[in-house]
Amino acid sequence: MHFNKVSRSVITALVRIVGNEHVHTNEEKLKHYGHDETEDLSFPPEAVVRPNTAEEVAEVLRICNEHHVPVTPIGGRTGLSGGALSVHGGVGLALDRMNRIVSIDERNLQVTVEPGLITQVLQESVAAKGLYYPPDPSSRGSCTIGGNLAENAGGPRAVKYGVTRDFVLNLQVAMADGQLIWTGANTLKNSTGYDLTRLVVGSEGTLGVITKAVLRLVPLPRETKLMLVPFAHARKACEAVSAVFRAGITPSALEFMERDAIDWTLEHVEGIPVKVAADVKAHLLIEVDGNHADAMMKDCEAIVQVMESHECGEILFAESPADKDALWKLRRSVAVAMKANSVYKEEDTVVPRYALPDLLDGVKKIGARYGFRSVCYGHAGDGNLHVNIIKGQLSDHAWEHELPKAIREIFQLTVSLGGTLSGEHGIGLVQRQYMDIAFDQNQLALMRGIKDLFDPHGILNPGKVLP
Ligand code: LAC
Ligand code: ZN
Repeated sequence: MHFNKVSRSVITALVRIVGNEHVHTNEEKLKHYGHDETEDLSFPPEAVVRPNTAEEVAEVLRICNEHHVPVTPIGGRTGLSGGALSVHGGVGLALDRMNRIVSIDERNLQVTVEPGLITQVLQESVAAKGLYYPPDPSSRGSCTIGGNLAENAGGPRAVKYGVTRDFVLNLQVAMADGQLIWTGANTLKNSTGYDLTRLVVGSEGTLGVITKAVLRLVPLPRETKLMLVPFAHARKACEAVSAVFRAGITPSALEFMERDAIDWTLEHVEGIPVKVAADVKAHLLIEVDGNHADAMMKDCEAIVQVMESHECGEILFAESPADKDALWKLRRSVAVAMKANSVYKEEDTVVPRYALPDLLDGVKKIGARYGFRSVCYGHAGDGNLHVNIIKGQLSDHAWEHELPKAIREIFQLTVSLGGTLSGEHGIGLVQRQYMDIAFDQNQLALMRGIKDLFDPHGILNPGKVLP
């Protein structure tokens, strides 16, 4: 692909669309919009454009398409695969001004939102009406719905409710050529033609820019119960996971944390009243939700039985809302604590749930062979394990040249267990060199054909997803 620089005449055209005060070219702003949470990568755009409406987004794309200027959509910049990085320069399309809740349809349990809306703001706004939007990445306080849609984000509640994609009914999308389309209908069922909605979700800004989303809601469960379960053997913790479902229970969260993940987080975050016994190697954090305390108590008893049969230690039940908040804060802070502790690379492996113990063992064996330490945690109920590879004492040479081979082996293992490369963080920039492990040439050619159809000049988030 040949791209052009953002010329003076392009800037003039962009200013005409969004106004002078919403086109930025000063270095500080470019740097700010040039990084997300992926390692310490920095790829500033040549200009940041902050549109206010879907029509403005569409016009920006039309201009950039005409001039063959790359466009990288930017949300909350909390991504972990580099999806929002302007790797080819061009325009960084920041959607932070488009953060409105357009409407909440309480009769149909639906909400229409703009992409720049913070996920937690959406959750709290609908909770005030007794409604629930379950997908909740750990970064929910700063990530945006647009980014969640682009990456098909998940989070702890996906195990019971599903991921972002499962809550999307309809999308308004600005296409590369400046058209605005809707992808589907605001219905719970839809067997009408190809499913463009599900295609655009998870496409990481490479097919179009989402300008509005109609999302499905569910009734807000009235109660939750939460327990932290220690294990002296990490493998046993992983084996207990699939046994919970086979015992007939679907928890609303079933999270796994290795010892290091908890220790590092307790060091990093103040005021979490958790003591970890010396022999503990891993924890499961398990939540059930519902409206009927008796039924939930019975589910908890069944879960405890499963845990005990897998040799768990003493279970901590969070009694008060404050205790529950503290345990969730612990879990949600793991990624930030990792980042604060060491240079690391994170892989977002996912396998069928029953293969989780073999994935964990295999990752540790690969680490032992290559001499790196890993800290694993994640959404065990979904078979989704975040593998954090710690730089520690590894030389820069090993980090740059040997580690990619180890990561390739981790992904080969993942795929051999029936899994795939990413459960919820996306492929973005940093995992695309591994796409050949998950897909053969025919599958990749099909994806490239789709990309070309939506974006003939390849201006939409170039350098992402496809190898
Ligand atoms: C989490 C993010 C990193 O699970 O996906 O905390
Ligand atoms: Zn996660």
